[in-house]
Amino acid sequence: MTTTVPQVTATQPGVISEPTFEQLATRVDDAVKALESLDPAARTVAEELKAAVEAIHRAGLVTIVRSLRADDATRPVLFDLVDDPVVHLLLSLHQIVRPDPMTEATRALQEVRPQLQGHGGDVTLVRIDGGIAFVRLTGACNGCSMSSVTLRNLVEKALVDGVAAINGIEVVPNEPEQTVISPESLFSTVHADDGWAHAGAVTDMPVNGLVAPVVTTQPTGQEVSVLLVSRSGQLSCYVNECAHEALPLDNAVFDAENGTLTCPWHGFCYDAGSGECLTAPEAQLEQLPLRVSNGQIWIRVGP
Ligand code: FES
Repeated sequence: MTTTVPQVTATQPGVISEPTFEQLATRVDDAVKALESLDPAARTVAEELKAAVEAIHRAGLVTIVRSLRADDATRPVLFDLVDDPVVHLLLSLHQIVRPDPMTEATRALQEVRPQLQGHGGDVTLVRIDGGIAFVRLTGACNGCSMSSVTLRNLVEKALVDGVAAINGIEVVPNEPEQTVISPESLFSTVHADDGWAHAGAVTDMPVNGLVAPVVTTQPTGQEVSVLLVSRSGQLSCYVNECAHEALPLDNAVFDAENGTLTCPWHGFCYDAGSGECLTAPEAQLEQLPLRVSNGQIWIRVGP
């Protein structure tokens, strides 16, 4: 068995030329093909070696990603790195990040948004399901006029051409579901004795953003980490666990414009107002009842 192994070469004295990504990918492909032609015993040993090396690489990468994500100063560096195609491929191969069509689609829409807004329209990405991007069109994009058809086609082309996971769009009605409770909805009879847990003051909440307080339930004294999400002052509350692997969402990426939360661990994307998972439609954040009384936020945890 022979494979072509690109070597690190010196193009000029003292200058080292690294193999290109394409060369490295070809080397991997050739080695995998060669593996298939080995006799079963040799193949088992080779595959075990490959799995062991990959496990070491994955462990190291997970440590790097966790360290970068844990620090406010280095988190942007991590997000920049994940945007690099080679780094993203590497992290995807090790199942540390997932391809996230919602993020790709959001970027694709950003490209055409100036054109839409220039014609008095706009678009909101609601979810992606079965290769279809469900979008809300507003302003001049919404309706049956020639210009609205043109703008709809613009949105469709941006999404279908820009995101491999999308092969069509469907326009949903402009009637956002009200699954959240306004801070203005004041209740005067909320007490810890009634099973409500205090989660802070409305004035401590960002207008757009999230906080992850630990609340204490009564009468058991049990402590529960919850995720409070504010979108334009509208509050929602969830158990602070991703529906994928129950990891915390403290560092989730909140996109106020599109109303989405993206889990920092493997990229599951959620509707911030309903907790509906847009990446895996069968998954859902556990939403908790929320009330505001005299400017204080109260959460009901448990029965
Ligand atoms: S996507 Fe895996 S824990 Fe959130």
